Amino acid sequence: MNLHIMSTIRDIKKPVEQELKIFEKQFNASFKSNIPLLNKVTKYLIRRKGKQMRPIFVMLSAQITGTITNDTYIAANMIELLHTATLIHDDVVDDAHRRRGFLSINALWKNKIAVLVGDFLLSKGLLLALENKAYDLLHIVSDATREMSEGELLQIEKARNLDIEEEVYFEIIKKKTASLIASCCAAGATSAGADKEKIKLMHDIGQHVGVAFQIRDDLFDYQTNNLTGKPNGVDLKEKKLTLPIIYMLNNVDKKRKNSIIKTIRNHHDNRKKVNDIINLVNESGGIKYAEATMNSYVNKAVALLEQFEASDARHSLIKLIQYSIQRKR
Ligand code: IPE
Ligand code: IPE
Ligand code: MG
Ligand code: MG
Repeated sequence: MNLHIMSTIRDIKKPVEQELKIFEKQFNASFKSNIPLLNKVTKYLIRRKGKQMRPIFVMLSAQITGTITNDTYIAANMIELLHTATLIHDDVVDDAHRRRGFLSINALWKNKIAVLVGDFLLSKGLLLALENKAYDLLHIVSDATREMSEGELLQIEKARNLDIEEEVYFEIIKKKTASLIASCCAAGATSAGADKEKIKLMHDIGQHVGVAFQIRDDLFDYQTNNLTGKPNGVDLKEKKLTLPIIYMLNNVDKKRKNSIIKTIRNHHDNRKKVNDIINLVNESGGIKYAEATMNSYVNKAVALLEQFEASDARHSLIKLIQYSIQRKR
């Protein structure tokens, strides 16, 4: 593991370190159930936890706009439960067998169990909000859940037709990824009692970060030997067109474009042919273009954040935003 990254994230967490410890205790406790099979799976989930970036977004957003309250913990838990559920479902949808450096739930227990465990976690998030009468948070998080499902479905539709434009790409990633990060920032601000204007501002910051975050994720797919603990080169295999290749396709002549699309349609399972296309993307400057676009979204987010007064929490959130694109996993 990369020590430099680890110490960076530790620095970022500093202003909310104690709060994150409390969050994690609550989060692990929320998996409890009387069903032995479910407990076996959730034990595995707790051991293979992710970076838990979203709870940090929630906590820091609350601290920037007010103070951390009981609702802040509820928001962080709801969102990490939802995030975990959507990753489990996403690996079923993408037929992906690796996650966080280990076998995915569907790889270990098959799709049936993965779908049901994801549903269990979703229901736990809903119940947490209801038990605490946190209806504002429930609204924010439910909106994000709806958008994520829409984004995934739009992505499937576009992969089938292979007709994706840059604008549609942004629509997909705004829905499937940025909506949840936007909801972290909005829910954090809501839990701190911020006014409507500030909640909206935090939401927009999260949305810009989320777009940059997904572009980084899509760039990982073009990287051999990436450290994400997820497979690479799978997007094209799934006929998923992301920003680097969309750029390349928009910068070759029509004949060439059609021939590349035909290759993806008919030979997306052929490793050699897919690698040739990946090389073309590199040569076309598609990677550089995606990186530049990603940076511009981060800059937009930071510029908005600078409307808030300087503080340790603001400083940390700026670092977390930068980490979203500099991360190695
Ligand atoms: C992965 O998110 C899903 C995407 C939106 C690309 P993270 O990279 O935050 O996942 P974990 O929780 O750390 O594994
Ligand atoms: C992002 O989609 C995950 C969700 C929004 C649920 P991807 O399929 O691109 O993410 P990874 O690469 O599997 O994490
Ligand atoms: Mg996936
Ligand atoms: Mg997916």
